[in-house]
Amino acid sequence: MAERTFRKCVLVMGYFLLGASLLAQPYRPSQEIQGKVDSLLALMTLEEKVGQMTNIGVAALCKGGFYEGRDTLELDSVKVNRLLLKYHIGSVQNKGKYPPSIEEWNRLIGAIQEVATQKSRLGIPILYGNDGVHGANYTEGSILFPHQIGVAATWEPRLAEAAAQVTAYELRASGIPWNFGPVVDVAKQPLWGRMFESFGEDTYLNMVMGNAMVRGLQGNNLSDPYRVGACLKHFAGYGMAHNGKDRSPVYMPERLIRQVILPPFEAAIQNGVPTVMINSGTINGIPCHTNKYLITDILKGEMRFQGFTISDWEDIDNLVKVHRVAVDEKDAVLQSVLAGLDMCMDPYDESFAVHLAELVREGAVPVARVDDAVRRILGVKFALGLFEQTLHPVSEYPDFGSEAFTKSSYEAAVESMTLLKNEEDLLPISKDKKVLVTGVAGNSLNYLNGGWSRTWAGVDTTYNDPDKLTIYEALQDILGQANVSFVQGTGYTEEINIEQAVETAKEVDYVVVCVGEQPATEKPSDIDDLSLPQVQQDLVTALSRTGKPIILVMVQGRPRIIREIEPLCKAILMAYLPGNEGGRAITNVLLGDENPSGKLPYTYPRYTGSIWAYDHLKSDDRGPDFGFGAFQPQFEFGYGLSYTTFSYSDLKVEAMPDKDEITISVTLTNTGRRKGKEVIQVYVSDLVASVSPAVKQLKRFRKIELTPGLQKEVKFKLTSKDLAFVNQQNQWVVEPGEFQLRVGNLSHTFNWKK
Ligand code: BGC
Repeated sequence: MAERTFRKCVLVMGYFLLGASLLAQPYRPSQEIQGKVDSLLALMTLEEKVGQMTNIGVAALCKGGFYEGRDTLELDSVKVNRLLLKYHIGSVQNKGKYPPSIEEWNRLIGAIQEVATQKSRLGIPILYGNDGVHGANYTEGSILFPHQIGVAATWEPRLAEAAAQVTAYELRASGIPWNFGPVVDVAKQPLWGRMFESFGEDTYLNMVMGNAMVRGLQGNNLSDPYRVGACLKHFAGYGMAHNGKDRSPVYMPERLIRQVILPPFEAAIQNGVPTVMINSGTINGIPCHTNKYLITDILKGEMRFQGFTISDWEDIDNLVKVHRVAVDEKDAVLQSVLAGLDMCMDPYDESFAVHLAELVREGAVPVARVDDAVRRILGVKFALGLFEQTLHPVSEYPDFGSEAFTKSSYEAAVESMTLLKNEEDLLPISKDKKVLVTGVAGNSLNYLNGGWSRTWAGVDTTYNDPDKLTIYEALQDILGQANVSFVQGTGYTEEINIEQAVETAKEVDYVVVCVGEQPATEKPSDIDDLSLPQVQQDLVTALSRTGKPIILVMVQGRPRIIREIEPLCKAILMAYLPGNEGGRAITNVLLGDENPSGKLPYTYPRYTGSIWAYDHLKSDDRGPDFGFGAFQPQFEFGYGLSYTTFSYSDLKVEAMPDKDEITISVTLTNTGRRKGKEVIQVYVSDLVASVSPAVKQLKRFRKIELTPGLQKEVKFKLTSKDLAFVNQQNQWVVEPGEFQLRVGNLSHTFNWKK
């Protein structure tokens, strides 16, 4: 057999250099801050240092047991003094059972800050963090946006930035300067229950949306009282668990970790993110929390990250209890701190700090490692302006929960709506007709909001905002009570009254079946079957026998298999988890007051046994007959219809290796009868490479609005970095040769020489 000849390749520096326009400044503490940090560090005892490296759950400071369901967060002065003054804990996170108001948050955090800044020896402020994953979701009355998967489906970074900016404003209004988000875990395993918290399966879409969110959260200045510090999570590979279960193992060669997983982290770090949360799971058997190569060499070394890393919840204990790489907690502390962990989210107590101090005294952990971690943490505290002012008066946040902020959530929800089927132009629904709304998600705000909504699980209805509308209520609001009926039909997995839904369907013109996923996150979001629960499919089947047109609305965080019921539905709308304005957004799309323009941020599989992302290899596409064409998803990544139609023409591509530039222009025409938005997507395929190349990869996109009959020429620019991949030596390279570029239904092949 002839020896494989590797083509000549050109090394490139790293993926973060791709698309330079994406990038702003990396986080670097100023000279002045560094000076202040050093002076403070020089005064600190070992106990004060390890305390700064510890983050506890707020419940550990409050009266009652840690997990006691409480309706107030009342500080327990004994616990506060013990943890903050005796053990010098420097950071607090989370909430209790219920969402406090901004006033209550301020009272609570104010009291904690007062102890830290007034009563402790050095007066170092607390860094308070929270999961504002779709708005300041743990504050009463805050705006609840679509979850990240819906934001990704807008393909509109402007909306991601706006949502994040409101989130930052409302977090700061609550006294919280640090957000545990965005999630930039590329999610190629649709079984993963946290897919809804991610931007989906594509690396580039994650980069662009992650950066937009970082811009919105942080602005240009971390000490801005209307912005917060972001915390990227979860470093790295959380969305790629091989069995799809939460926090379960990832098996991936370094080559793909670098090519698929790291770029969104790297891009956001170059864009100024000051903190990174570590993934709870393992990669190739090594827990991320003990992975020195990942944390110290790659993140802090290659990516030159100067902020600090924080563990995920209880993950040092988990090195003993779950991963079994440490004999006891002290061993776990040793391994993680030496790997480069700077702060431990030790929710319940001070044990991390106690073990760490001992390890330093015993000489197992060098003081220099602790000093490095504390420097990083104090730097961020200074950069966030906490030493000047820990809280800002509530009166400085008049826009909290405002109309304008609500509009921003509505707009994001509308633009996320992804129309997957519309046979014979069934939609929009005519407003003079009668509608039955049925299905588990038809009359539920909790289903629209999903997990992390007022409560962690998002299932408690006690804290729902009374003035927000479900899908049923929003349809009634416009069509009139008499014209819209509701029969639930099913729960998530159990039958309620399918027969009654069928009987009612006989009386109406349209049946809107709102299927969905029960709100959940983390472990409770694990599922054993990607299919939509059978009973929800049975509802559709039973209703289809009435002959009434069925509109399927899917309110779900991941793509649940609908192969059997898809032919029974004339129209299908994917709503993701659209948030508090979701009822109105879905309604206005169904009625045609809004034109859908969302595109799938993941591949929608047809079979539970055929799970591939769009950027699979050609070998993934081989069928039982050894031919090609096995990749037949239900709906493709990037797919979504509109009430108008678009055509693409005049694709011009000029590849200029000498200038390191590829210019692309294409003309988009609105060929339909109403104004609409289209997402132009540019894909590149490397036709031959030394490592089997992806069939295609997204490289650029832009959303364009056009009125009927109008056309627009749209231009893009690529550079050689957009042609790069990670080779067998784990280096980013560009190999010369033929590439194919695809935009809409057009394509162009060009040669790249260097
Ligand atoms: C989750 C993180 C979250 C943290 C704090 C963990 O269990 O995995 O995403 O930021 O809890 O609430």
